[in-house]
Amino acid sequence: MDKLIVHGGTPIHGAITISGSKNASLPILAATLLTDEDCVIRRVPDVSDTNYMVQILTGLGADVERFSGTVRVTAADISDTAPYDIVRRMRASVCMMGPLLARKRRCVVALPGGCVIGDRPVDLHIRGLEALGATATIDGGNVVLEAPDGLRGATIDLCGTNGPTVLGTDNVMMAATLAEGITTITSAACEPEVVDLADFLNAMGAKITGAGTPVITIEGVSKLKGCVHNVIPDRIEAGTFMAAAALAGEGVTLRRVHEGHLAAITAVLRKAGHQVHFNDSGDACTVLRGDTPMPAEIVTEPYPGYPTDMQAQMTALFATTPGTSVVVDTIFPQRFMHCAELKRMGADIQVSDGKAVITGVKQLSAAPVMASDLRASAALVLAALTAKGTTEILRLYHIDRGYEHIDEKLLSLGANVERVRE
Ligand code: EPU
Repeated sequence: MDKLIVHGGTPIHGAITISGSKNASLPILAATLLTDEDCVIRRVPDVSDTNYMVQILTGLGADVERFSGTVRVTAADISDTAPYDIVRRMRASVCMMGPLLARKRRCVVALPGGCVIGDRPVDLHIRGLEALGATATIDGGNVVLEAPDGLRGATIDLCGTNGPTVLGTDNVMMAATLAEGITTITSAACEPEVVDLADFLNAMGAKITGAGTPVITIEGVSKLKGCVHNVIPDRIEAGTFMAAAALAGEGVTLRRVHEGHLAAITAVLRKAGHQVHFNDSGDACTVLRGDTPMPAEIVTEPYPGYPTDMQAQMTALFATTPGTSVVVDTIFPQRFMHCAELKRMGADIQVSDGKAVITGVKQLSAAPVMASDLRASAALVLAALTAKGTTEILRLYHIDRGYEHIDEKLLSLGANVERVRE
């Protein structure tokens, strides 16, 4: 296992390029199972979650090649079973269900179980696939989905108690591409990653309209073909570096971003007194730390609201912002593991009922801290950039799940960080 050593107090400045989106790449890689033809996907980030996905595809029998950000998949002859030893390593492997069921008319996918950021059921995924005509049984920790006569279009509402489901929308959308007739998903997730998947599926020959709105319509087709696709930029990686620049920056430019995808994050940073400037084409931005940072309030919501995947990083920024800031997570109300670690660095944070109240302190102090999940670890890295002394962030594999070469990117911005073996 690696750990990251961060010597705090060195400002970051300069420019980096944002990688392709992890959360768009994962379902797109799964969607390659819908055809026996070659699919070429570019700008897949080199992170462990996409590596797991490649291993899953290979394990299912697909032929996969990976070279500098490009993944080529040919799923000519595949099995219908994604076993637990694979699924348990990455929850997002549940997005195999839709494509496997559509292609093979049967699939066995291990249920993912608990998750450190909260209880993450898959009831909506299963309900959606049942609405398309599949029967679902739970057997030995696996969900077995069967539709021997193929799937049929239906109208399906995917709203859960905490809003729409992103991967659930992906699963039903993927399955419906090969269903007979028309499927309408209401209360669909509107995240840009869902739109990127729909673009990929349409390039394969699917007939999807409305992605990016709460109502998605899919007209089933009998066969999909191979295609070439470029993955969208990772808005959460961009947001994380934007927060880092607001916290510890002297002018940081991010290339290959999408201004529209970053609207909610930009609004919070500006409200907190920092400057964010986009170029005319909206594909690069420069973030400057404000002279008088101010507290702010965040409530996470489904897109286009403020993303839950960016609340931990903003909490790290607020930890040294004068005044009292509030972070409420309505999507994953238990996602506050990072707060206990930030408190070990001297932060003043009270967490209760899905809400963190953060009273800014002058400076955090270094401590050995433990990464608990992907975004929590990013928050600890950010906090360490301005903390007094040397912080050791243990269990770095959490951050390697979703941030491509984060230590190299930070080094190129002048941060004093080093990756070492624990
Ligand atoms: N939910 C249900 N039933 C379901 C599915 C979800 O009640 O069947 C609930 C969840 O418990 C949660 C809410 O619905 O309260 C939203 O969860 P969602 O299903 O949208 O999450 P997901 O699709 O499993 C994706 C991202 C997460 C991100 C969430 C929310 C991927 C691979 N993962 O997960 O990303 O937090 O959407 O935006 O796209 C991350 O990258 O760090 C990460 C956790």
